[in-house]
Amino acid sequence: MKRKLFIKTWGCQMNVYDSGRMADVLAPLGYEPTGGPEDADMVILNTCHIREKATEKVFSELGRLRAGARRDGRQPIIAVAGCVAQAEGEEIVRRAPFVDLVFGPQTYHRLPEMVAKAMRHAGQPILDTAFPAESKFDRLPEETQSAGPTAYLSVQEGCDKFCTFCVVPYTRGAEFSRPAAQVLDEARRLIDRGAREITLLGQNVNAYHGEGPHGATWGLGRLIRALADLPGLTRIRYTTSHPRDMDEALVRAHADVPLLMPFLHLPVQSGSDRVLAAMNRGHRAADYLRLVDRLRTARPDIALSSDFIVGFPGETDAEFAQTLDLVDEVGFAQAYSFKYSPRPGTPAAMAEHPVAEPVKAERLAVLQQRLNAQQRAFNHASIGRVMPVLFDRRRDGPGGRQLLGRSPYMQVVHVPAAPALLGRIVPVRVVAGGDNSVAGELVAGQRPTGEARSCDLAREYPA
Ligand code: 5AD
Ligand code: SF4
Repeated sequence: MKRKLFIKTWGCQMNVYDSGRMADVLAPLGYEPTGGPEDADMVILNTCHIREKATEKVFSELGRLRAGARRDGRQPIIAVAGCVAQAEGEEIVRRAPFVDLVFGPQTYHRLPEMVAKAMRHAGQPILDTAFPAESKFDRLPEETQSAGPTAYLSVQEGCDKFCTFCVVPYTRGAEFSRPAAQVLDEARRLIDRGAREITLLGQNVNAYHGEGPHGATWGLGRLIRALADLPGLTRIRYTTSHPRDMDEALVRAHADVPLLMPFLHLPVQSGSDRVLAAMNRGHRAADYLRLVDRLRTARPDIALSSDFIVGFPGETDAEFAQTLDLVDEVGFAQAYSFKYSPRPGTPAAMAEHPVAEPVKAERLAVLQQRLNAQQRAFNHASIGRVMPVLFDRRRDGPGGRQLLGRSPYMQVVHVPAAPALLGRIVPVRVVAGGDNSVAGELVAGQRPTGEARSCDLAREYPA
């Protein structure tokens, strides 16, 4: 029997990946993806718990669903998944007893059993937020949806670092790495289904230490080298990394592996050693700057991105100024910045000397202004350059037909181009730089110049 499935996803790329895999698990039961809750037989809210108001957002979404999202008034099966489900499962069941299923990130391979049970015991919510001994990855079926030119692949999950602000160690559980052979098999299937670029995912992706052949343990650098040998793949990225896990093999991979894109999201959070220590980050500002130097020595054009938290408990004006100094010193191509928000159950939530809300807001505005200026400068510096762009979306607007793609440096690039180029990597000359994207034009017959040449066109346009 055909049924329709709608999954709404919040949060990180790992949640996007998980949502895709939930669809794979449900496909054998006849569930096909649909674009909204109006005609869905099952709605899954795949939630994120990283910052404040996460739980409230879920409850208001549930309220809307309950009010009758389906056109014909029938109630779909309603499920809450992801990190809010993991952290607040019991509260969800208590406050929203009409929810049928509540399950965390580590148990969605059990969805068929959960759905069968929900059908048998309608009206009784099923809660499964265990951290099972088995790995879901050993039990997930093969992927069912077409991959598109860019695909995510989870290689590592969970976190043992316990930064004092962060819920991830509690919602995603202990650090776990998938065996290399399993990762390579999934990558081959993604490539067969159309992926040109694969982004390796993990909460702490560069802590990857998976089982390799003959009892060896592979780090992320080694895994990337093996992936780079797969025919048909043209780009590799990975996210999110911790500065402490950036080992020499991985830094070397940035020098040696042309498929590894020259862009790295490497969160530093703060430029103050006292704040970094209070966050339990395990490194100082100078260590981060040294690491940036090593990366730039390995790959001179590497573009960097980071996350920042302002207003961590006890953060003084002088400590915040050190964050600004670090930003000036590094020069980021992109960044995300947040006001600190206390998360239930984390050590920092109990810390003294919270920073007042208006001070946090003021610091965030100052930091974002600085980061936006850097991003704009980075985009402007691209004007005139010819870069390989992987087209992954189309947008037809008043300006005509456009394709959107990514440069090696993760910039969004808009180009007037025919849809036939979707999924292709094409040389593009950047003609204008905006705050959040750049505009380009196709350069017929011209090969990319400079550093970009060495990235990913080698396979698309062999010399
Ligand atoms: N408050 C504010 N920002 C946070 N982040 C994680 N936890 C918190 C919190 N409690 C930010 C960090 C992290 C990003 C994913 O979210 O910067 O790198
Ligand atoms: Fe949000 Fe973190 Fe969970 Fe991803 S892992 S959904 S960022 S809380």
